[in-house]
Amino acid sequence: MNEFAFLIHPLTLEDVARKFGFARYLPPPFISRVLTKLPPLLVSEIRGVESAYGNTKGSFVAVMLTARQMVELPLSFVLNRIIEAGKKAEKLGARILGLGAFTSVVGDAGITIAQNLNLAVTTGNSLTAATAIAGTRQAAQALGIELKKAQVAIIGATGSIGTAVSHILANDVHHLALVARNEARLEAAAQRIRSEYGETVSVDCLTNVSKAVRQADIILATSSAAEVLIQPEHLKPGAIVCDIARPRDTSKRVAREREDVLVFDGGILEVPGKVDFGLNYGFPPRMTYACMAETMILALERRFENFSLGREYQPEKIMEIYQLALKHGFRVAALRFDERIIEPEQYQSIRDKMHKQEFP
Ligand SMILES: NC(=O)c1ccc[n+]([C@@H]2O[C@H](COP(=O)([O-])OP(=O)(O)OC[C@H]3O[C@@H](n4cnc5c(N)ncnc54)[C@H](OP(=O)(O)O)[C@@H]3O)[C@@H](O)[C@H]2O)c1
Repeated sequence: MNEFAFLIHPLTLEDVARKFGFARYLPPPFISRVLTKLPPLLVSEIRGVESAYGNTKGSFVAVMLTARQMVELPLSFVLNRIIEAGKKAEKLGARILGLGAFTSVVGDAGITIAQNLNLAVTTGNSLTAATAIAGTRQAAQALGIELKKAQVAIIGATGSIGTAVSHILANDVHHLALVARNEARLEAAAQRIRSEYGETVSVDCLTNVSKAVRQADIILATSSAAEVLIQPEHLKPGAIVCDIARPRDTSKRVAREREDVLVFDGGILEVPGKVDFGLNYGFPPRMTYACMAETMILALERRFENFSLGREYQPEKIMEIYQLALKHGFRVAALRFDERIIEPEQYQSIRDKMHKQEFP
């Protein structure tokens, strides 16, 4: 019997064309219309998740809407489609449901979805935040950047993951730039950090992403934008970008055109056991998103309860799920971007280039 299910969806229409080749020959507006009519789909079974403390199995269920459709179609329609997929997971026997990509972004970040289902629900955002922070620390160490001296920008700082990583980093850094579109929410987020961490950290609010990126040594990209926000020309030499967003906030051009920056996908873990996802989503064997790993860990622990929901910062959950991840042998993956591992010699090359530019 499957114990967990994880919701996925095509990020873009290109994803749909990759899965269903004939879609390549049809006009995009037609495909978009067809997608709105499709029921949820059982994509594959996930087998072989096994730690020293137990094992679990699950399935991928797809909501057939792209990221853009999820933010542009009426919220009630999108939520209903996600709830329908949750009901399919229930029928498959799942006792906990993880919300992948934009299924956790729409509306109130899982709260309404959980209220309409008879199984536990988690966005996976607690482990995503913890894993992104671990990767950022690893990258900063590799480039010899001291967090305390760095200018750190959080794109999507008022969101669920953005709020969590802003609070965690406020303990470590002196300069934080919070970036999003809504100024009132940004100012409220900054006020919370100022009142909690006092004068040890200066907090700026910016609505201009490229301006924030140009000033930053370290960027955590956590927006829910359906389009690319960070272009090669925005980045300082030696900058680090931890890109957690799916679709990514960072242009693929950065990897090709900027050999003097370190950009990596945040929130990726190695799963214990000989896991078979029954689906190729472009990762090497055993690698998965932290949000999916959180769902697996809760199933391994037999914790069939709502875990990460909503956008409030919940440090105790972040700490707890990270400890449980380590207990079960989940490991933060080597830094990688766009399906390629970043080799350690690249760190030295970035450091060399960065110093040449700073001290010509
Ligand atoms: N790697 C993983 O394992 C993993 C796991 C879960 C989620 N994710 C991804 O992480 C991202 C964030 O998820 P979340 O749950 O934290 O979302 P969220 O709570 O909805 O927050 C999104 C944030 O992005 C901001 N934003 C949206 N569009 C923007 C734009 N054009 N420019 C600047 N800021 C913008 C929003 O503020 P404004 O509306 O004010 O702009 C908000 O601060 C999503 O892409 C999701 O797919 C990845």
